[in-house]
Amino acid sequence: MTDETGKTFELTDPASGRSAHLPVRSGSIGPGGLDIASLQKDLGVFTYDPGYGMTAPTDSRITYIDGDAGVLLYRGYPIEQLAEKSSFMEVAYLILIGELPTAKELAEFTGNIRYHTMINETLLRFFNGFHHNAHPMAMVSAVIASMSAFYHDTMDIHNPRHREIFSHRIIAKIPTIAAAAHKHSLGQPFVYPRNDLDYASNVLSMLFAVPCEPYKLDPVAAKALDLLFVLHADHEQNASTSTVRLAGSTGANPYAAISAGVSALWGPAHGGANEAVLSMLEQIGTVDNIPKFLTMAKDKSSHFRLMGFGHRVYKNFDPRAKIIREMCHRVLAALGRDDNPLLELALRLEEIALKDEYFVSRKLYPNVDFYSGVIYSAIGIPRSMFTVMFAIARTVGWVAHWQEMISDPGMRIGRPRQLYTGPTRRDYVDIKKR
Ligand code: ACO
Repeated sequence: MTDETGKTFELTDPASGRSAHLPVRSGSIGPGGLDIASLQKDLGVFTYDPGYGMTAPTDSRITYIDGDAGVLLYRGYPIEQLAEKSSFMEVAYLILIGELPTAKELAEFTGNIRYHTMINETLLRFFNGFHHNAHPMAMVSAVIASMSAFYHDTMDIHNPRHREIFSHRIIAKIPTIAAAAHKHSLGQPFVYPRNDLDYASNVLSMLFAVPCEPYKLDPVAAKALDLLFVLHADHEQNASTSTVRLAGSTGANPYAAISAGVSALWGPAHGGANEAVLSMLEQIGTVDNIPKFLTMAKDKSSHFRLMGFGHRVYKNFDPRAKIIREMCHRVLAALGRDDNPLLELALRLEEIALKDEYFVSRKLYPNVDFYSGVIYSAIGIPRSMFTVMFAIARTVGWVAHWQEMISDPGMRIGRPRQLYTGPTRRDYVDIKKR
């Protein structure tokens, strides 16, 4: 729980003279939060905050963001250090458990994840219900939701061991489900997981191997994917994580809650932006067209936004975007594709937008999704699978937040209020008199 700082704000209703004393709660770093729990009791009002921009519905020990300074910490560790020195499995352990693992703990954790990579064969048959051109995010969210029909013996959410098994299962199986969705779209046979491979290599193998010939893994692609997974693993109370928490706060089956998170992630304002960025870059086509598209992005009546730009919390460079931009050069060079026209276009677009008064004054910088698609494409992942890759990584964060919430003795159902603006009370009118 957060502590009271001793600082209190007093709010008085001038009409009635009633006052509320609102304590400020402190976290370990960052600004404090005004505790408004007594507002309705003391003043008869609640807060109005569309889009929850100013609302912290929980305290959390997992991830810290300083949006003005462009800082991101997982359990206190800077994202830059984790990107350089760690791996996705180690970061998953850190996010879930709270500390970096010893070599023994990491081996045990990785072993637990490997043990659960296969999915029930009946789940595989679910894919046959989808048309070949179904979006993979639709298939992934549906199949994950279907997992709530399995595992009844380990589904007591108040049993810590059951929660642990759930976390291992979903982290292990989401790549298998994701790859099955991809194979279904292609009409290719499903490729079973290979437990001799590391997490990212296994994803590549299930996506790209075919039964009729040996698959040669590219270590550069596997390393790049692992790093992208590290960068996407958690991002505190974003829309999809908040969705998982909200669904989970009702006591819902956690697979159903994760499925809700996948659905929320899919939107282009959130994780779906990585797919939208590539479509946008292709639409722009050449550097000469950039001014035309920037004008459109600034025109409020056009509905066009510069995808991969802007963020609710970062009013500075998204530190993940900085790492990915640098990574693009290294990965493309290692793959022998350093003359990538999409990367050239993205770099020029960033340069021009960051000199434009509209983007400067609104503090709109490239976010994590601006450059990630360039790397996904370079390693052969099709555009429709970009957001699925994001979902694989973010599952770790979703699970950690769900665990943190369920194990909190003070947990309450998430239930926001509203400012009602509809008709006032009126009497029913018989259909003949309308
Ligand atoms: N292009 C053009 N204008 C923009 C953009 C953009 N990408 N982003 C924000 N703006 C403008 C808004 O029109 C608004 O202008 P105004 O003050 O004149 O009305 C101002 O900047 C503030 O934007 P809001 O929409 O209020 O910011 P909000 O925090 O609600 O939205 C969001 C953040 C959704 C990320 C937004 O910046 C956006 O739509 N970006 C493009 C989609 C995207 O890249 N999403 C991925 C985010 S990262 C992630 O979720 C993984």
